[in-house]
Amino acid sequence: MATIKKKAAKKEAAPAPVSQASAAGEWTGKSQAMFERMLQEVPEALRGIFRGKLTQVLAQKAKGGPFAEGHVVEIVNEMVPEPFKSNILKAFSTMGDIDMNVVEEILKKYPGGQETLISILHAIQEQCGYIPQEALIMVSQKKGVFLSTLYRLVTSYKAFRTTPPKKHTVTVCNGTGCHVKGGNPVLRELEKKVSANGSQITLEKVRCLGCCDVSPAVMINGELYGGAQAQAKISEIIHE
Ligand code: FES
Repeated sequence: MATIKKKAAKKEAAPAPVSQASAAGEWTGKSQAMFERMLQEVPEALRGIFRGKLTQVLAQKAKGGPFAEGHVVEIVNEMVPEPFKSNILKAFSTMGDIDMNVVEEILKKYPGGQETLISILHAIQEQCGYIPQEALIMVSQKKGVFLSTLYRLVTSYKAFRTTPPKKHTVTVCNGTGCHVKGGNPVLRELEKKVSANGSQITLEKVRCLGCCDVSPAVMINGELYGGAQAQAKISEIIHE
């Protein structure tokens, strides 16, 4: 891959949508995400050629059976030169425990073009709790969109998460209604508690939770609490 990299055309082409690989055999576990991650090390302009050749190698290794994660690792070990090999193996080791069939099903539900991307990303986050890198790679390949474009999308929308959520989510209202009812001291107290003991707590601030009648309002794991109740609930989850 190193030599190919040198010869790569400078002008990048958008990745071609993929559908042929899954027809050659069933992908199991994270094999498809790993295969796509491996291809990320190949320059865009040559990725289509590599995809075809490596899919053939994969089919030979699978001997007519399903494509397994082990087959992809074998290809990387046998065919990919350093430093690409180390990069890929490291990326494999940090891949989340995501069922890529879930992502595939979501993609099937949104067969359109780029106008479907936001809906797809929302659906992935809803199913997985966040948007894993391997899911982005699959969306990039299936929709023919640059990975960098998808990264820009998920990092510019606050609603998207690229890391797994912590066990608890605490959303504190920072709006005017809650502010006048003593929301700020509650927020400061919660911030103190969470930073001292709350490694499993994600603390978020919003402008209004839409329940100003219980101000100062706090949402804990989707349940609404008023100020004092929220303090008690936070203490409970910190000490559980
Ligand atoms: S201002 Fe806090 S819930 Fe509306």
